[in-house]
Amino acid sequence: MNSIQFFDNAHGLESCLIALHKEAFGSLSWSAQDLCELVNRPHYHVAVCSCENFFSGFILYSRLFDEAEIITLAVKPTLQRRKIGTNLMKRVLEKLSKQEVQSVFLEVAENNLAALGLYHYFGFVEINKRTNYYKGNLSALCMKKSLLI
Ligand SMILES: CC(C)(COP(=O)(O)OP(=O)(O)OC[C@H]1O[C@@H](n2cnc3c(N)ncnc32)[C@H](O)[C@@H]1OP(=O)(O)O)[C@@H](O)C(=O)NCCC(=O)NCCS
Repeated sequence: MNSIQFFDNAHGLESCLIALHKEAFGSLSWSAQDLCELVNRPHYHVAVCSCENFFSGFILYSRLFDEAEIITLAVKPTLQRRKIGTNLMKRVLEKLSKQEVQSVFLEVAENNLAALGLYHYFGFVEINKRTNYYKGNLSALCMKKSLLI
């Protein structure tokens, strides 16, 4: 049974998160140092999906006042397309909504169809495009979801 847990401080989880990020993003994964620094920043939080201490996915997000940003989202490749990403996003958005967050932002590579499918499902809309933002001249789509009813 998968369960989702929230951590305000990812101290002690870093190596698992780094390994999962590397598995999910491959050569595009962030360095262990960068990820370690991010997960321990103030205002940064992690939602982890796990089954019997085995991590299957996580969302790293930041929240400050009434705005939040999805920093990264990763699901173990062998467990993708089983709604783990959907469940993580659902729970994070529910939590942010309860915390009176009004807007959630994220960035995604224009060719990341899996992530785009997930973000569109949750009602994120494109608000800006950063041309040639990623390696390989890929643009980043900046997306926003309003949590106001
Ligand atoms: C993006 C990612 C987190 C999705 O997680 P997941 O658990 O596999 O996603 P879900 O099973 O919840 O799928 C939800 C929806 O996303 C879309 N989707 C997910 N994987 C997809 C794929 N391989 N191709 C096309 N659409 C896909 C679909 O719309 C899917 O709904 P459906 O299965 O009913 O068609 C996962 O593919 C991943 O970790 N990718 C590598 C890291 C990454 O790109 N992170 C996002 C960075 S912005």
